Amino acid sequence: MFHDRLPQAERYAHLLATTGTVRGLIGPREVPRLWTRHLLNCAVVAVGVPQATTVCDVGSGAGLPGLVWALLRPDLQVTLVEPLLRRTAFLEEAVAELELTDRVRVVRGRAEGLHRVEQFDVVTSRAVAPLGRLLDWSMPLVRPGGALLALKGSSAADELTAATEELARHGATGTSVLTFGADVLDPPTTVVRVEAGASSRLGWTPGGPTTSRRPDRRGTGRSSEPDGGRRRRRQR
Ligand SMILES: C[S@@+](CC[C@H](N)C(=O)[O-])C[C@H]1O[C@@H](n2cnc3c(N)ncnc32)[C@H](O)[C@@H]1O
Repeated sequence: MFHDRLPQAERYAHLLATTGTVRGLIGPREVPRLWTRHLLNCAVVAVGVPQATTVCDVGSGAGLPGLVWALLRPDLQVTLVEPLLRRTAFLEEAVAELELTDRVRVVRGRAEGLHRVEQFDVVTSRAVAPLGRLLDWSMPLVRPGGALLALKGSSAADELTAATEELARHGATGTSVLTFGADVLDPPTTVVRVEAGASSRLGWTPGGPTTSRRPDRRGTGRSSEPDGGRRRRRQR
């Protein structure tokens, strides 16, 4: 999964298990399952991020998923947004230690503080808030043609249903529930994707409003339709 980035990923895991637990960013009971529950859980989604895009990780905490994606994808420019000082201090140290300062920026503050200030191709988050509230915080940060990628658990489809009002308010143009990493993780990672704006140059994998798709065998989250979704793409 991490290939030539494995040494950096191991350094990050070590930081989480040592400094991260001492400073209360990661519970001691999480240490034995750091790889499966945290690093891999985030890593499997990295293939779903379009090439050479700007990414904002809202409520990054100790860097999940933003730091993991930055490790795996040298083509991404990543902004980690986190209000708590002790967490941003850890993030600054981790970014320096992992030699990512040229591509990863740490912003101390709440997502709402960036509204009307900055926008990104992709806005992500993991374990931050129910989808409705997350949409209020995150959708103003998504540039037209971009998307929100919210890492969620088994509640993903229900959260989408419950967030109908927020989806309409923020002009969502497409929603999908995607699963990633079914070949390496049990359970795999479930992601809610919410697209913003009508057209995109980013090359999202196909998916129209309220579609729910399973990943292919490689766990990439690509369409598992027999024709790879080509028919649906041609109709657009
Ligand atoms: C449960 S932690 C999850 C951290 C990390 N994403 C992870 O998966 O381990 C939620 C994080 O969201 C941050 N947070 C809460 N409200 C926020 C907001 N409005 N904008 C940005 N971050 C926020 C908190 O400070 C906290 O670090």
